[in-house]
Amino acid sequence: MTDLFSPISIRDLTLPNRIAVSPMCQYSSIDGFANDWHLVHLGSRAVGGAGLVFTEASAVLPEGRITPNDLGIWKDDHIAPLARIVDFLHGQGAHAAIQLAHAGRKASMQRPWEGERLLSPGEDGWTNVVALLDD
Ligand SMILES: Cc1cc2nc3c(=O)[nH]c(=O)nc-3n(C[C@H](O)[C@H](O)[C@H](O)COP(=O)(O)O)c2cc1C
Repeated sequence: MTDLFSPISIRDLTLPNRIAVSPMCQYSSIDGFANDWHLVHLGSRAVGGAGLVFTEASAVLPEGRITPNDLGIWKDDHIAPLARIVDFLHGQGAHAAIQLAHAGRKASMQRPWEGERLLSPGEDGWTNVVALLDD
């Protein structure tokens, strides 16, 4: 237990403890934007003392989202609401991390609690799903 609450350095980064919050998809964004949900979801973990807080999977392209409600970072307008969260995390002594993500062939799905099925363009889904082919 002593190690859990002691600092750890990874290259130039020193975390105050070894408690890290894993990325957890919230499917609560509109057009990729972070909002108050993300501030509270992530911020409350920092208030609880986690040394490192990861965002959920954050899509690097709109067609790389799992659902239309994924968090994203594909346009500059996404920066300010994310920066607000980062500032809050830093104010609590936590470090912020982001999980960059592309859903590949898992894209254009309905949110899990709504049925988790493929969405058509008429339902906010998209057809330009891209993925690597297996050998
Ligand atoms: C609600 C929820 C959402 C998750 N979303 C992601 C995600 O966005 N990206 C990811 O890599 N893993 C995701 N995971 C997996 C977790 O990050 C973690 O790897 C998993 O819960 C195993 O860790 P544990 O053994 O400490 O629970 C999610 C897990 C949960 C419970």
